[in-house]
Amino acid sequence: MNQSIISADNNFIELERWFSNKRKVLLVCDSSIKFLSELNNKLENITTPIVKFSNFQPNPLYDSVVEGVKLFRAEQCDSIFAVGGGSALDVAKCIKLYSNLPGDGTDGFWLKTQINPSDIPFLAMPTTAGTGSEATRYAVVYFDGVKQSITSESFIPDIVLMDPNSLKTLPLYQRKATMCDALCHAIESFWSVNSTEESKAYSKQAIQGVLENFDGYLNNTDAGNGGMLKAAHMAGKAINITQTTAGHAMCYKITSLFGCAHGHAAILCDRILYSWMLQNTNKCIDSRGEDYLVNTLNELGQALGCSDALLGAEKLASIFEKLDLSIPVASDSQYEELKNSVNPVRLKNHPVFLDVDSIDYLYHQILK
Ligand SMILES: [Fe+2]
Repeated sequence: MNQSIISADNNFIELERWFSNKRKVLLVCDSSIKFLSELNNKLENITTPIVKFSNFQPNPLYDSVVEGVKLFRAEQCDSIFAVGGGSALDVAKCIKLYSNLPGDGTDGFWLKTQINPSDIPFLAMPTTAGTGSEATRYAVVYFDGVKQSITSESFIPDIVLMDPNSLKTLPLYQRKATMCDALCHAIESFWSVNSTEESKAYSKQAIQGVLENFDGYLNNTDAGNGGMLKAAHMAGKAINITQTTAGHAMCYKITSLFGCAHGHAAILCDRILYSWMLQNTNKCIDSRGEDYLVNTLNELGQALGCSDALLGAEKLASIFEKLDLSIPVASDSQYEELKNSVNPVRLKNHPVFLDVDSIDYLYHQILK
C-alpha cells in the first residue's frame, strides 16, 4: 500500500489540510499528548470537531477497542487520528478495522469475525521511535488475559506524521529501550527466513539510521530525534514483510519476569543470538541454505559498519554495553520457566533451529 509521510513543518500545515475535509475525527491518544504543546495548540484551533479517546492501557485490552468503536459510531466520526506509542497506534488500528464489522463486539465477537477491509481515513503520529507500528499490518490486544495478534493490510495508516518534537520529553530509559526495539526489528528482519531484497533494504536503512543518529538521539537533538523516527519507521517496514524471529519470541518472558522494557529485553537476546547463530549455521532451516545464511550474517555485520559477521556481533554487544542497560539475575526456577515459555511456532521465522536445550543455554548467556 502507498503510505505518505508528512511533517509538522509550517505549524502542522499538512495536518490542517488533512483535517479540512473531515466531518468529525476520533483522536486516539495516550498520555504523551499532554507534552505536545504545539500540537495541542494546533488542535484547539482546528474547526473540525474532535472526539478524544484515551481510555486504554499499555498492552491494551480488546474491551478498550470495543469502547473506542462504540464512541466512534455514537459520535458519527468519519476518520481517526492516532497519537502515541505502539499501544495507542494498535488500539487505533483495531478501532479502524472493527468499526467496519457488524455487531457491538462483545464477548470477543470481532476476534472471530471475518475481516472486511476498512477504508476509514487514518493518520498516525508516533511519539516513540521504536515499535514501527505505524508501518505494520500487525496489532496486539489482550482478550481474557490472552494475547491476540491481529493482522490486516487495511489498518495500516494512510498517512504518518513524523515530528521530531514528539520525542523531546521521552525519558532516557524509554528512549534507549525503544531505540533497541527498532534496532532489533531491523536485525531480526534481516536474518529472518522471510527476508526479501526489499525487506533487507529497509533493514539496512534502519540499522544505518540508528547508528548515524545514535548520539544525537540519546542527546535529544532535533536531528537525532528526526533521524531515529525514520529509522524506527524503516525497521517497521522491514518487519511488516518478515515478522520478527527468536529474539522477540524469547524476550517477552524476560519482560514479564523482570519488568524490563520490551526493547531492552529484545537487545538482551539479540546480542547473544547473533554470535550463537554464527557458531550454529549448520543448523540452518532457511530454505535458501547455509551459505546464504552465512552470507546474510556477514552482510548484517557490514550493515552494522563492520567487515564481517564476527565483528558485527561484537558491535551489537558493544552497543548494548554503551547503553548501560541492566542484565537481570535469574533463579533456577526462573530459568526453568523461561526455557518452557518460548512458543516453538514463533521460532519458525528464525533461520537457525532452536530446541529446548539451545533455548536454555541461550537464556543462561542472556541473563546472569
Ligand atoms: Fe519489538
